[in-house]
Amino acid sequence: MRKYKIGVIGCGYWGPNLIRNFLQSPSVKQVACHDINAERLERMKVLFPSAETYSSYDKFMQSDVDAVAVATPVSFHYQIAKDALEHGKHVLIEKPITKTSKEALELIRLAEKNGKQLMVDHTYEYSPSVRKIRELVEKGELGNIFNISVVRVNLGLFQKDVDVIWDLVPHDISIFRFVLNKEPFSVRAFAESHILPGKYDTAYVLIKYPDNITAHLQISWLNPKKIREMTIIGNKKMLVYDDVNASEKIKIYDKSVDIGNNKEPIHTYYEKGGAFQFLYRSGDIHIPKLDEKEPLKGACDHFIDCIESGKKPLTDGYSGYKVMLVLEAIQESLNRNGDEVLLK
Ligand SMILES: NC(=O)c1ccc[n+]([C@@H]2O[C@H](COP(=O)([O-])OP(=O)(O)OC[C@H]3O[C@@H](n4cnc5c(N)ncnc54)[C@H](O)[C@@H]3O)[C@@H](O)[C@H]2O)c1
Repeated sequence: MRKYKIGVIGCGYWGPNLIRNFLQSPSVKQVACHDINAERLERMKVLFPSAETYSSYDKFMQSDVDAVAVATPVSFHYQIAKDALEHGKHVLIEKPITKTSKEALELIRLAEKNGKQLMVDHTYEYSPSVRKIRELVEKGELGNIFNISVVRVNLGLFQKDVDVIWDLVPHDISIFRFVLNKEPFSVRAFAESHILPGKYDTAYVLIKYPDNITAHLQISWLNPKKIREMTIIGNKKMLVYDDVNASEKIKIYDKSVDIGNNKEPIHTYYEKGGAFQFLYRSGDIHIPKLDEKEPLKGACDHFIDCIESGKKPLTDGYSGYKVMLVLEAIQESLNRNGDEVLLK
Protein backbone atom coordinates (compact mmCIF):
# COMPACT_ATOMS: atom_id res chain seq x y z
CA MET A 1 0.00 0.00 0.00
CA ARG A 2 1.19 3.51 -0.85
CA LYS A 3 1.87 5.95 1.95
CA TYR A 4 0.36 9.42 1.71
CA LYS A 5 1.29 12.93 2.70
CA ILE A 6 -1.69 14.72 4.22
CA GLY A 7 -2.03 18.47 4.63
CA VAL A 8 -4.24 20.04 7.30
CA ILE A 9 -5.31 23.65 6.86
CA GLY A 10 -6.70 25.47 9.89
CA CYS A 11 -5.02 24.55 13.19
CA GLY A 12 -7.43 26.03 15.75
CA TYR A 13 -9.61 23.79 17.94
CA TRP A 14 -10.40 20.92 15.54
CA GLY A 15 -7.38 20.92 13.18
CA PRO A 16 -4.94 19.49 15.78
CA ASN A 17 -7.28 16.49 16.23
CA LEU A 18 -6.99 15.80 12.50
CA ILE A 19 -3.19 16.19 12.60
CA ARG A 20 -2.93 13.80 15.57
CA ASN A 21 -5.10 11.15 13.92
CA PHE A 22 -3.31 11.35 10.56
CA LEU A 23 0.09 11.15 12.27
CA GLN A 24 -1.02 7.93 13.95
CA SER A 25 -2.09 6.30 10.68
CA PRO A 26 0.29 3.67 9.30
CA SER A 27 -0.75 4.78 5.77
CA VAL A 28 0.50 8.33 6.30
CA LYS A 29 4.18 9.07 5.69
CA GLN A 30 3.97 12.74 6.60
CA VAL A 31 1.59 15.46 7.77
CA ALA A 32 1.93 19.10 6.74
CA CYS A 33 -0.09 21.98 8.14
CA HIS A 34 -0.91 25.60 7.41
CA ASP A 35 -2.71 28.30 9.36
CA ILE A 36 -3.17 31.96 8.58
CA ASN A 37 -2.23 32.69 12.18
CA ALA A 38 1.55 32.37 12.79
CA GLU A 39 1.05 31.70 16.52
CA ARG A 40 -1.10 28.68 15.78
CA LEU A 41 1.58 27.31 13.46
CA GLU A 42 4.24 27.79 16.17
CA ARG A 43 1.95 25.89 18.55
CA MET A 44 1.69 23.01 16.03
CA LYS A 45 5.52 22.79 15.93
CA VAL A 46 5.48 22.26 19.70
CA LEU A 47 2.55 19.81 19.71
CA PHE A 48 3.62 17.82 16.64
CA PRO A 49 7.40 18.16 16.07
CA SER A 50 7.29 15.67 13.19
CA ALA A 51 4.71 17.66 11.19
CA GLU A 52 5.86 20.08 8.46
CA THR A 53 4.54 23.63 8.77
CA TYR A 54 3.87 26.03 5.91
CA SER A 55 3.40 29.73 6.58
CA SER A 56 2.58 30.36 2.89
CA TYR A 57 -0.80 29.23 1.57
CA ASP A 58 0.49 29.11 -2.02
CA LYS A 59 3.51 26.97 -1.09
CA PHE A 60 1.24 24.65 0.89
CA MET A 61 -1.04 24.22 -2.14
CA GLN A 62 1.90 23.72 -4.51
CA SER A 63 3.58 21.20 -2.18
CA ASP A 64 3.59 17.44 -2.69
CA VAL A 65 0.70 16.78 -0.26
CA ASP A 66 -1.65 14.18 -1.72
CA ALA A 67 -4.72 15.33 0.18
CA VAL A 68 -5.91 18.36 2.14
CA ALA A 69 -8.12 18.37 5.23
CA VAL A 70 -9.92 21.70 5.63
CA ALA A 71 -10.56 22.75 9.25
CA THR A 72 -10.91 26.51 8.90
CA PRO A 73 -14.08 28.48 9.74
CA VAL A 74 -16.91 27.55 7.33
CA SER A 75 -16.64 30.75 5.23
CA PHE A 76 -13.27 29.57 3.85
CA HIS A 77 -14.22 25.93 3.16
CA TYR A 78 -15.35 26.45 -0.42
CA GLN A 79 -12.36 28.47 -1.71
CA ILE A 80 -9.75 26.30 0.02
CA ALA A 81 -11.37 23.02 -1.14
CA LYS A 82 -11.65 24.42 -4.68
CA ASP A 83 -7.97 25.45 -4.70
CA ALA A 84 -6.93 22.04 -3.35
CA LEU A 85 -8.98 20.15 -5.96
CA GLU A 86 -7.57 22.38 -8.71
CA HIS A 87 -4.07 21.54 -7.47
CA GLY A 88 -4.90 17.83 -7.86
CA LYS A 89 -5.38 17.04 -4.15
CA HIS A 90 -8.06 14.87 -2.55
CA VAL A 91 -10.15 16.83 -0.02
CA LEU A 92 -11.56 16.07 3.41
CA ILE A 93 -13.70 19.00 4.46
CA GLU A 94 -15.15 19.77 7.87
CA LYS A 95 -18.88 20.04 8.42
CA PRO A 96 -20.85 21.90 7.17
CA ILE A 97 -19.36 21.38 3.74
CA THR A 98 -19.83 24.99 2.53
CA LYS A 99 -22.01 28.05 3.15
CA THR A 100 -24.45 27.23 0.33
CA SER A 101 -25.72 24.16 -1.50
CA LYS A 102 -24.65 25.77 -4.80
CA GLU A 103 -21.03 25.86 -3.59
CA ALA A 104 -21.30 22.25 -2.41
CA LEU A 105 -22.51 21.15 -5.87
CA GLU A 106 -19.64 23.01 -7.52
CA LEU A 107 -17.11 21.16 -5.35
CA ILE A 108 -18.78 17.80 -6.08
CA ARG A 109 -18.55 18.46 -9.84
CA LEU A 110 -14.94 19.67 -9.62
CA ALA A 111 -13.89 16.59 -7.63
CA GLU A 112 -15.59 14.34 -10.19
CA LYS A 113 -13.99 16.18 -13.11
CA ASN A 114 -10.51 15.92 -11.56
CA GLY A 115 -10.97 12.33 -10.38
CA LYS A 116 -10.33 13.25 -6.74
CA GLN A 117 -12.06 12.24 -3.53
CA LEU A 118 -14.28 14.79 -1.77
CA MET A 119 -15.31 13.65 1.70
CA VAL A 120 -17.11 15.57 4.46
CA ASP A 121 -16.21 14.98 8.08
CA HIS A 122 -19.63 14.00 9.42
CA THR A 123 -17.74 12.57 12.38
CA TYR A 124 -20.67 10.92 14.13
CA GLU A 125 -21.24 8.51 11.26
CA TYR A 126 -17.89 6.97 12.22
CA SER A 127 -18.73 6.68 15.93
CA PRO A 128 -19.28 3.17 17.32
CA SER A 129 -22.43 4.43 19.15
CA VAL A 130 -24.14 5.81 16.05
CA ARG A 131 -23.14 2.70 14.07
CA LYS A 132 -24.70 0.51 16.76
CA ILE A 133 -27.91 2.59 16.68
CA ARG A 134 -28.12 2.24 12.91
CA GLU A 135 -27.64 -1.51 13.21
CA LEU A 136 -30.43 -1.74 15.83
CA VAL A 137 -32.84 0.37 13.78
CA GLU A 138 -32.03 -1.57 10.60
CA LYS A 139 -32.67 -4.90 12.34
CA GLY A 140 -36.03 -3.60 13.60
CA GLU A 141 -34.96 -3.96 17.24
CA LEU A 142 -36.89 -0.80 18.21
CA GLY A 143 -39.80 -1.57 15.87
CA ASN A 144 -41.31 1.24 13.79
CA ILE A 145 -39.72 4.56 14.72
CA PHE A 146 -42.19 7.19 15.99
CA ASN A 147 -39.84 10.05 16.78
CA ILE A 148 -36.35 11.20 17.69
CA SER A 149 -35.61 14.02 20.11
CA VAL A 150 -32.22 15.64 20.60
CA VAL A 151 -30.80 17.96 23.20
CA ARG A 152 -27.43 19.35 22.09
CA VAL A 153 -26.49 22.20 24.44
CA ASN A 154 -23.45 23.60 26.25
CA LEU A 155 -21.82 26.94 27.07
CA GLY A 156 -20.30 28.20 23.78
CA LEU A 157 -18.14 27.88 21.86
CA PHE A 158 -19.57 30.85 19.95
CA GLN A 159 -18.34 30.53 16.34
CA LYS A 160 -17.36 33.75 14.60
CA ASP A 161 -18.85 33.13 11.18
CA VAL A 162 -21.84 30.82 11.80
CA ASP A 163 -24.72 30.61 14.27
CA VAL A 164 -25.57 27.73 16.61
CA ILE A 165 -27.70 26.05 13.93
CA TRP A 166 -24.94 25.90 11.33
CA ASP A 167 -22.46 24.84 14.00
CA LEU A 168 -24.37 22.01 15.69
CA VAL A 169 -27.35 20.90 13.61
CA PRO A 170 -25.24 19.33 10.80
CA HIS A 171 -24.24 16.61 13.27
CA ASP A 172 -27.84 15.57 13.89
CA ILE A 173 -29.02 15.84 10.30
CA SER A 174 -26.19 13.52 9.26
CA ILE A 175 -26.97 11.10 12.11
CA PHE A 176 -30.69 11.02 11.19
CA ARG A 177 -29.79 10.36 7.52
CA PHE A 178 -27.47 7.56 8.51
CA VAL A 179 -29.74 5.92 11.10
CA LEU A 180 -33.11 6.27 9.35
CA ASN A 181 -31.80 5.90 5.80
CA LYS A 182 -34.41 8.47 4.76
CA GLU A 183 -34.39 12.07 3.54
CA PRO A 184 -36.58 14.63 5.37
CA PHE A 185 -39.46 16.29 3.55
CA SER A 186 -40.04 19.40 5.69
CA VAL A 187 -38.62 21.55 8.49
CA ARG A 188 -39.82 24.24 10.88
CA ALA A 189 -37.48 26.28 13.04
CA PHE A 190 -37.50 28.90 15.77
CA ALA A 191 -34.34 30.59 17.03
CA GLU A 192 -33.23 33.37 19.37
CA SER A 193 -30.16 35.62 19.72
CA HIS A 194 -29.60 36.50 23.38
CA ILE A 195 -25.92 37.51 23.40
CA LEU A 196 -25.00 38.97 20.02
CA PRO A 197 -27.80 40.54 17.96
CA GLY A 198 -28.27 38.65 14.70
CA LYS A 199 -26.33 35.55 15.79
CA TYR A 200 -28.65 32.76 16.90
CA ASP A 201 -27.43 31.10 20.09
CA THR A 202 -30.55 29.02 20.89
CA ALA A 203 -32.77 27.15 18.46
CA TYR A 204 -35.61 24.66 18.20
CA VAL A 205 -36.00 22.66 15.01
CA LEU A 206 -38.69 20.21 13.93
CA ILE A 207 -37.93 17.91 11.00
CA LYS A 208 -40.48 15.60 9.37
CA TYR A 209 -39.52 12.36 7.64
CA PRO A 210 -41.59 9.91 5.60
CA ASP A 211 -43.56 7.21 7.49
CA ASN A 212 -44.78 9.71 10.12
CA ILE A 213 -41.37 10.02 11.74
CA THR A 214 -40.61 13.35 13.38
CA ALA A 215 -37.35 14.61 14.84
CA HIS A 216 -37.01 17.61 17.08
CA LEU A 217 -33.93 19.34 18.33
CA GLN A 218 -33.10 21.74 21.12
CA ILE A 219 -29.78 23.41 20.32
CA SER A 220 -27.96 26.01 22.38
CA TRP A 221 -24.63 27.65 23.15
CA LEU A 222 -26.20 28.98 26.36
CA ASN A 223 -26.41 26.16 28.85
CA PRO A 224 -24.34 25.49 31.98
CA LYS A 225 -24.26 21.76 31.20
CA LYS A 226 -22.90 19.94 28.20
CA ILE A 227 -25.73 17.66 27.08
CA ARG A 228 -25.58 15.47 23.99
CA GLU A 229 -28.65 13.30 24.29
CA MET A 230 -30.74 11.60 21.63
CA THR A 231 -33.89 9.63 22.43
CA ILE A 232 -35.42 7.34 19.82
CA ILE A 233 -38.93 6.07 20.40
CA GLY A 234 -40.00 2.94 18.56
CA ASN A 235 -43.24 0.98 18.89
CA LYS A 236 -41.31 -1.97 20.39
CA LYS A 237 -38.47 -0.40 22.37
CA MET A 238 -36.96 2.98 23.25
CA LEU A 239 -33.32 4.02 23.08
CA VAL A 240 -31.38 6.77 24.80
CA TYR A 241 -27.96 7.77 23.43
CA ASP A 242 -25.94 9.90 25.83
CA ASP A 243 -22.72 10.86 24.07
CA VAL A 244 -21.31 12.54 27.19
CA ASN A 245 -21.50 9.32 29.23
CA ALA A 246 -18.09 7.66 28.93
CA SER A 247 -19.07 4.05 29.62
CA GLU A 248 -22.84 3.70 29.05
CA LYS A 249 -23.53 5.69 25.92
CA ILE A 250 -26.51 3.66 24.71
CA LYS A 251 -29.37 2.32 26.81
CA ILE A 252 -32.16 0.29 25.22
CA TYR A 253 -35.36 0.33 27.27
CA ASP A 254 -37.67 -2.61 26.72
CA LYS A 255 -40.69 -0.35 27.18
CA SER A 256 -43.72 0.32 25.04
CA VAL A 257 -47.38 1.26 25.11
CA ASP A 258 -50.04 -0.68 23.24
CA ILE A 259 -53.81 -0.75 22.94
CA GLY A 260 -53.99 -4.52 22.36
CA ASN A 261 -57.13 -5.48 20.46
CA ASN A 262 -58.94 -2.27 21.40
CA LYS A 263 -58.97 -0.87 17.90
CA GLU A 264 -62.23 1.15 18.07
CA PRO A 265 -62.17 4.90 18.83
CA ILE A 266 -61.71 5.48 22.57
CA HIS A 267 -65.13 7.21 23.17
CA THR A 268 -67.00 4.06 22.12
CA TYR A 269 -65.65 2.20 25.17
CA TYR A 270 -66.98 4.83 27.57
CA GLU A 271 -70.30 4.97 25.74
CA LYS A 272 -70.63 1.23 26.33
CA GLY A 273 -69.83 1.79 30.02
CA GLY A 274 -66.43 0.07 29.83
CA ALA A 275 -62.96 1.42 30.46
CA PHE A 276 -60.28 1.69 27.83
CA GLN A 277 -57.08 -0.15 28.78
CA PHE A 278 -53.65 1.02 27.70
CA LEU A 279 -51.14 -1.82 27.91
CA TYR A 280 -47.80 -0.64 29.30
CA ARG A 281 -44.82 -2.93 28.97
CA SER A 282 -41.75 -2.28 31.06
CA GLY A 283 -38.90 -4.78 30.82
CA ASP A 284 -35.13 -4.74 31.17
CA ILE A 285 -32.68 -2.02 30.22
CA HIS A 286 -29.89 -3.27 27.98
CA ILE A 287 -26.52 -1.50 27.64
CA PRO A 288 -24.65 -2.79 24.57
CA LYS A 289 -20.88 -3.02 24.60
CA LEU A 290 -19.33 -0.69 22.04
CA ASP A 291 -15.95 -0.52 20.29
CA GLU A 292 -13.70 2.15 21.71
CA LYS A 293 -12.44 3.64 18.45
CA GLU A 294 -12.32 7.45 18.35
CA PRO A 295 -14.89 8.60 15.73
CA LEU A 296 -12.45 11.01 14.08
CA LYS A 297 -9.90 8.22 13.72
CA GLY A 298 -12.60 6.23 11.90
CA ALA A 299 -13.21 9.19 9.57
CA CYS A 300 -9.47 9.75 8.87
CA ASP A 301 -8.85 6.02 8.23
CA HIS A 302 -11.88 5.88 5.91
CA PHE A 303 -10.63 8.91 3.95
CA ILE A 304 -7.26 7.29 3.32
CA ASP A 305 -8.90 3.97 2.51
CA CYS A 306 -11.08 5.71 -0.13
CA ILE A 307 -8.05 7.49 -1.64
CA GLU A 308 -6.24 4.14 -1.85
CA SER A 309 -9.16 2.08 -3.17
CA GLY A 310 -11.00 4.74 -5.19
CA LYS A 311 -14.30 3.79 -3.52
CA LYS A 312 -16.94 6.41 -2.71
CA PRO A 313 -16.70 7.73 0.86
CA LEU A 314 -19.63 7.00 3.16
CA THR A 315 -19.86 10.75 3.81
CA ASP A 316 -19.06 12.00 0.31
CA GLY A 317 -19.65 15.49 -1.04
CA TYR A 318 -23.23 14.55 -1.91
CA SER A 319 -24.06 13.73 1.72
CA GLY A 320 -22.64 17.14 2.65
CA TYR A 321 -24.89 18.68 -0.02
CA LYS A 322 -27.98 16.89 1.38
CA VAL A 323 -27.22 18.22 4.87
CA MET A 324 -26.77 21.67 3.35
CA LEU A 325 -30.26 21.53 1.77
CA VAL A 326 -31.77 20.94 5.22
CA LEU A 327 -29.75 23.82 6.73
CA GLU A 328 -30.97 26.12 3.97
CA ALA A 329 -34.58 25.02 4.54
CA ILE A 330 -34.17 25.75 8.28
CA GLN A 331 -32.86 29.21 7.38
CA GLU A 332 -35.88 29.79 5.13
CA SER A 333 -38.26 28.71 7.90
CA LEU A 334 -36.58 31.19 10.29
CA ASN A 335 -36.93 33.93 7.66
CA ARG A 336 -40.65 33.06 7.42
CA ASN A 337 -41.33 33.11 11.18
CA GLY A 338 -41.27 29.35 11.63
CA ASP A 339 -43.42 28.35 8.64
CA GLU A 340 -43.13 24.77 7.49
CA VAL A 341 -40.67 24.64 4.57
CA LEU A 342 -40.71 21.71 2.18
CA LEU A 343 -37.38 20.25 1.09
CA LYS A 344 -36.68 20.52 -2.61
N1 LIG B 1 -16.43 17.33 13.12
C1 LIG B 1 -16.55 17.89 14.29
O1 LIG B 1 -17.01 17.28 15.26
C2 LIG B 1 -16.09 19.30 14.46
C3 LIG B 1 -15.84 19.82 15.75
C4 LIG B 1 -15.40 21.15 15.83
C5 LIG B 1 -15.25 21.94 14.70
N2 LIG B 1 -15.52 21.38 13.49
C6 LIG B 1 -15.36 22.18 12.26
O2 LIG B 1 -13.99 22.48 12.07
C7 LIG B 1 -13.86 23.76 11.45
C8 LIG B 1 -12.97 24.63 12.33
O3 LIG B 1 -13.59 24.82 13.58
P1 LIG B 1 -12.72 25.21 14.86
O4 LIG B 1 -13.66 25.11 16.01
O5 LIG B 1 -11.45 24.45 14.89
O6 LIG B 1 -12.42 26.74 14.56
P2 LIG B 1 -11.24 27.63 15.16
O7 LIG B 1 -11.67 29.05 14.96
O8 LIG B 1 -10.85 27.16 16.52
O9 LIG B 1 -9.99 27.33 14.21
C9 LIG B 1 -9.93 27.73 12.87
C10 LIG B 1 -8.46 27.95 12.49
O10 LIG B 1 -8.42 28.26 11.10
C11 LIG B 1 -7.48 29.33 10.91
N3 LIG B 1 -7.87 30.03 9.68
C12 LIG B 1 -8.89 30.89 9.50
N4 LIG B 1 -8.95 31.28 8.21
C13 LIG B 1 -7.94 30.64 7.56
C14 LIG B 1 -7.50 30.65 6.23
N5 LIG B 1 -8.12 31.36 5.29
N6 LIG B 1 -6.42 29.89 5.92
C15 LIG B 1 -5.78 29.16 6.86
N7 LIG B 1 -6.17 29.12 8.16
C16 LIG B 1 -7.25 29.85 8.50
C17 LIG B 1 -7.61 30.18 12.15
O11 LIG B 1 -6.44 30.96 12.35
C18 LIG B 1 -7.80 29.11 13.23
O12 LIG B 1 -6.56 28.69 13.77
C19 LIG B 1 -15.27 24.30 11.28
O13 LIG B 1 -15.72 23.99 9.99
C20 LIG B 1 -16.08 23.51 12.30
O14 LIG B 1 -17.44 23.38 11.92
C21 LIG B 1 -15.91 20.10 13.35
